[in-house]
Amino acid sequence: MIATGLIKFYLPGNTFQVGSKKSRFLDRMLLKRMLMSVMKNSPGLYILLCLLIMACSKKNSPANGTPPAVIVPPIVVAADTSLYKMVPFPMGAAVAINLVKNNAKYSGIVTKEFNSITAENAMKFSGLHPAENTFFWTDADYLVAYAQTNNKRLHGHTLNWYQSMPTWVTNFSGDSTAWEKMLKTHIQTVVAHFKGKVAAWDVVNEYFNDNGTVRNSLWVQKLGEDYIARCFQYANQADPDVLLFYNDYGHEYSTAKRTAITNMIASFKTRGIPIHGIGLQFHLSVGQPDANISAAIASAAATGLQVHISELDIRLNANKAQTFPFTTTMASQQAAKYEHVVKAYKSILAAQQYGITTWNVTDADSWIPNWQGAPDYPLPFDANYQRKEAYRGIVRGAK
Ligand code: GLA
Repeated sequence: MIATGLIKFYLPGNTFQVGSKKSRFLDRMLLKRMLMSVMKNSPGLYILLCLLIMACSKKNSPANGTPPAVIVPPIVVAADTSLYKMVPFPMGAAVAINLVKNNAKYSGIVTKEFNSITAENAMKFSGLHPAENTFFWTDADYLVAYAQTNNKRLHGHTLNWYQSMPTWVTNFSGDSTAWEKMLKTHIQTVVAHFKGKVAAWDVVNEYFNDNGTVRNSLWVQKLGEDYIARCFQYANQADPDVLLFYNDYGHEYSTAKRTAITNMIASFKTRGIPIHGIGLQFHLSVGQPDANISAAIASAAATGLQVHISELDIRLNANKAQTFPFTTTMASQQAAKYEHVVKAYKSILAAQQYGITTWNVTDADSWIPNWQGAPDYPLPFDANYQRKEAYRGIVRGAK
């Protein structure tokens, strides 16, 4: 019988409407039996019913390929809890200027939970230097003001990289002297502009390949492999007080790469090239063994330099599944991995702990889903700006 758009069924002892709340509690067997009987007696009504049930259940399930926003309840902590207050070293996040400016939930987390910030893009070459004779300071200066007002350390990222080069650089047609002048001008103008405002610079980012050889970047092609040493010298000339870091990924999975990095640092020391820190990006997969993470941190610490875990995130979707809901199991595996990173980091000398920075702030703004072309949940805050189990993992690791 059909009544007000809903289908009512009467069975001995039971009355329910398909799609109504009550129906969701009915015994599946009962529904099956009832459908069988409709199928026998009225095939047309049976098809109609199936379509209706499918439509109702679709309403409650995620859209194709889109996982539900949150299926793991956020963790509850005291209202005045802050991540940076619970760890014994600076705790940072890489931030997008437009979100700091325009998204109150996002900036609320940054202000409350972190005491160090890195510009996600605003201080990269293409962000600061869009044309040969034009520097664009507005966004980065906004971040400087935000950091000063809110008492945050600002970490500079990055003076030289093989990516994020504006087209005027990739099309630059000078000889090696002109290239050298262009590199030096960029580094020294930027470092001078932020003198006294940033604590440190990632001077060169990702100079090495995973096998430990030097990446054949445009900079290396134009200026030779030793241009990296000159980058550090130019930065040091422009601000002798700012700390200078070499930043890279893969320390955890490539011993060849980390050996190349530690050899370069040793050679810098011998030659008197200024360098103060080493950045381990740590874009980790949850399957990365703890031993590899510990070995990477220990090898960086053995250089005697400051160690920055500079771009931490822990992704879960190794197979790049297009439908990938976050589960409580994943939440605790991810939390355990965050805990291990913090524990291993905490075991190095306090004087070498420059801090840990997550790359982005929440799962809603992480770069990982775009990069891997599949959903993921790599950060300690979920897409609804709530703390995840990973947050608790960080706090546990710091104890
Ligand atoms: C690298 C860079 C960062 C950022 C991330 C992800 O790790 O160092 O600046 O671009 O990739 O986007």
